Amino acid sequence: MRPRDRLRIAMQKSGRLTEPAQDLLMRCGLAFRQSRDKLFCFGEGEPVDLLLVRDDDIPGLIAQGVCDLGIVGRNVLNEYQLTAGREDAVALAEWRALGFGRCRLSLAVPQEMDYAGPVCMAGKRIATSYPGLLGRWLRERGIDAGVVTLAGSVEIAPRLGTADAICDLVQSGGTLAANQLRETDVLLESEALLVGPQVLPADERGDLVGLLLKRIDGVIQVRE
Ligand code: PRP
Ligand code: ZN
Ligand code: MG
Repeated sequence: MRPRDRLRIAMQKSGRLTEPAQDLLMRCGLAFRQSRDKLFCFGEGEPVDLLLVRDDDIPGLIAQGVCDLGIVGRNVLNEYQLTAGREDAVALAEWRALGFGRCRLSLAVPQEMDYAGPVCMAGKRIATSYPGLLGRWLRERGIDAGVVTLAGSVEIAPRLGTADAICDLVQSGGTLAANQLRETDVLLESEALLVGPQVLPADERGDLVGLLLKRIDGVIQVRE
């Protein structure tokens, strides 16, 4: 990886975290000129640029050194930590909890299913985009269940007959209700995090990170 003298932050291109993440960086005094394809935003004042990507790609981009920092949900970070291959050897750290994008990763079953606890999932199929987190939860309980990995639209799987239950993010609960599903167990409480490598780059970027962290702490304090 060619050394860079500008700091690069990855964030979600479009989704729940996009607006609050942009708002946070703005409050930190950062301003960006959007490129035409809107994937790369050049920083106007400080030498800090933005990369707008799929949230699931953010931990890998930091681990590979393509980006220095990322704003991403704890759900995505932890799933990455459980499933990433050995080639992505850089250990990632949770630097700041940002207080927005709160949601939970939960198990949900069809409204009418008799559910008397996690053991009811033995021998059942569970659809999820989080096979790492779900697999760990099942293992910890000694439950042998099938994990059906889907990239999206997980909530429809029970109605299609491709799974008996789902494990997905819940925020308002609207998606579950619309699909006649009932939340039974919370696997993980999540919120947006500032994520970075455990060891900072030993150049100007390290100093920039220090400055940014100070400003973020200021913004978070004012909010509380
Ligand atoms: C999540 C989840 C549900 C929805 C739940 O998707 O997969 O579809 O949010 O939210 P609710 O309880 O408020 O209805 P999201 O669009 O956040 O992420 P994704 O595109 O990465 O699945
Ligand atoms: Zn996603
Ligand atoms: Mg979704």
